[in-house]
Amino acid sequence: MKLLQRRLNAQSLFIVVAAVLWQPFGVASIPIPESNCYALDNSSRLVDFSSWIGIPFEYEGKYSDVVVRFCKDVESRSQTGYVGFGRFDKFNHFVSGSGSVNFVQGFYHGDLMNCEDSPDKMGRTAQVNIICGSCLNGECKGGVGCICNVTYESTCRAVVELAIPCKEPGQRVFEGFTVGFHPRSWEIVYNGMTQLGFERAHHEFSFRTEQFHVALYMTAIASRSTLVQKPIVQVFPDSGLEVKLSGSGAAGKSPTTLSPSMLLIDWRCVKVRDAPYVVNITIPVEGYEPIEFFLTKMCEYTQDQGGDATRGWAVFGVISFIFMVSSILFCCGGFVYKTRVERQHGIDALPGMAILSACLETVSGAGQSYSRHEDLNAAFAREASWEHQPVPAQGTWRPSERKYGSM
Ligand SMILES: *[C@@H]1O[C@H](CO)[C@@H](O)[C@H](O)[C@H]1NC(C)=O
Ligand SMILES: *[C@@H]1O[C@H](CO)[C@@H](O)[C@H](O)[C@H]1NC(C)=O
Ligand SMILES: *[C@@H]1O[C@H](CO)[C@@H](O)[C@H](O)[C@H]1NC(C)=O
Repeated sequence: MKLLQRRLNAQSLFIVVAAVLWQPFGVASIPIPESNCYALDNSSRLVDFSSWIGIPFEYEGKYSDVVVRFCKDVESRSQTGYVGFGRFDKFNHFVSGSGSVNFVQGFYHGDLMNCEDSPDKMGRTAQVNIICGSCLNGECKGGVGCICNVTYESTCRAVVELAIPCKEPGQRVFEGFTVGFHPRSWEIVYNGMTQLGFERAHHEFSFRTEQFHVALYMTAIASRSTLVQKPIVQVFPDSGLEVKLSGSGAAGKSPTTLSPSMLLIDWRCVKVRDAPYVVNITIPVEGYEPIEFFLTKMCEYTQDQGGDATRGWAVFGVISFIFMVSSILFCCGGFVYKTRVERQHGIDALPGMAILSACLETVSGAGQSYSRHEDLNAAFAREASWEHQPVPAQGTWRPSERKYGSM
């Protein structure tokens, strides 16, 4: 008994270890199915019926037979010919059902004859209720499935009950979530599913070297937006491309449909590489499969932003140095010239001294000019009462005598 227990413990330990090891590989993006023949079940799990497209199911009625071609169309066939009861075209016409019905498919735009009054001129329409398993009346057990019964709600609308063996539902999709290059677009993720081209690394769709950053916009249904968590970024190979995330999306702000959150990706090529770098962005969602998508980035040359700045300062330093040296040379030359040729001595011999002393004389020259302070106030007064120009009083304001700054 004890031995058995120990063996069981060992076994469960093995399962736990295997699960932990397996986890990073088990998490994957949910790529949007290749066809529009899929549905999300009542707990948001993806069920892909792509392999069922076009499979016909026939039902013999009293006056006419009904043929359902899966995810294609519904027809009634009789002696007088075929009558179309609608075509399947959009994925949002394939939804989860309730009660014994697992899924509901909508078929629209069938034959218009005698059904011209149908809403939106959609002609004859059909609804196919899909039961996973067998009919309630016990017909068609096993096999590829069958039509259980057909009811005509009117001459223009048929309701078909179809029993098929459904596949096991897949991953849990975070419905309504989008990621796009614009606030109102969803090129990358639509309805929680990663679009083809971003579900894994596609080298032919790489961002070019000169594209320094890219902005992504995320939206989610407001009532579920708090489930969205901070994105995680992974780069392959893990060195050579520096990736920084910023923006409201990187901070973990909840995106809604009305106010998308922005995820700004700054990437800088540090190492040149023939093949593009692969950037894996994962957005965990509480209780759902994470949103995962891949962007690829070429690095044909390095973008040394820091280096550019350093080079700028180096150029500035060299120019300053040249300026300083030439000033000193000019000063010394002038000094030598004045002492030797003009025979001036000491401080008078410094170049520019004549100009400087002239300046000093002008500024301190016996009450002929006014200080800058007064000038500012005068300007202010003029502005404050522009309707009544203050009349200059007793020589405080004499534009004609203006000497400020003159030499
Ligand atoms: C992408 O990154 C996530 C989170 O870091 C990781 O769990 C996942 O395994 C990565 N996907 C691939 C294909 O490497
Ligand atoms: C979803 O549908 C299945 C089968 O119809 C049912 O057993 C299950 O309880 C339903 N789950 C929810 C959450 O409605
Ligand atoms: C089809 O038959 C089932 C019994 O198998 C019945 O419950 C259901 O109401 C019928 N459907 C229609 C549309 O009449």
